[in-house]
Amino acid sequence: MQDKRVSVAVAYHSGFGHTETLAKSVVNGINTIEGADGVLVDVTGLNNDFTILDNADAIIFGSPTYLGSVSGPFKMFMDATGQIWMHRGWQNKLAAGFTVSASPAGDKQSTIIQMSVFAAQHGMIWVGANDEPGNNSSTSTADSINRLGAYQGMMAQANVDEGPEVAPPNADHRTAESFGKRIAEASMRWGKAPATPAPALEVTA
Ligand SMILES: Cc1cc2nc3c(=O)[nH]c(=O)nc-3n(C[C@H](O)[C@H](O)[C@H](O)COP(=O)(O)O)c2cc1C
Repeated sequence: MQDKRVSVAVAYHSGFGHTETLAKSVVNGINTIEGADGVLVDVTGLNNDFTILDNADAIIFGSPTYLGSVSGPFKMFMDATGQIWMHRGWQNKLAAGFTVSASPAGDKQSTIIQMSVFAAQHGMIWVGANDEPGNNSSTSTADSINRLGAYQGMMAQANVDEGPEVAPPNADHRTAESFGKRIAEASMRWGKAPATPAPALEVTA
């Protein structure tokens, strides 16, 4: 019988723990979906061995926003996937992304755009968020899910003077869980990603 379980990897970097704590909430959300397994992957620990991501059916990228961009270590990870890009190793996997910054805006849309372009380069299929915007009316509050009103990816905000035990606040963790559920459900519908093709001929510049 064909294995119907899907594996959804959450590939993140976190300098001070805020992205990591959100990544765990995303994984918790994934694991609430019957048939989906969330896998937490710190990209700084990969040492250029991408097997765990090659084997995933979907990859959710997570990075803090540093100076309106993904963090340096996350970009190092992106660049290290060049050989995978060359042999189309991740094509047709689902992809999604989330970020956290200190300011409510903080130019973090730029981080999500960077991730979605990265996914497109790999031939991956980008899935956005789907929670109604919170905190944009007289009946919603800063404790509402999707309080930052993001769709292209999941966004959170963490006060600079608070550690990951308290920041981002609970509303963002609930948003992260909901995001994890959405990507897991999309993965169940999309099905298992095709096996990674054999590497093409190496091209030396
Ligand atoms: C080098 C650096 C650059 C940052 N740039 C931004 C920024 O552009 N916008 C913003 O709102 N916050 C910025 N921040 C704040 C971080 O996004 C915020 O503290 C985040 O929660 C850090 O996540 P982490 O603990 O996973 O590293 C920056 C922090 C650092 C260290």
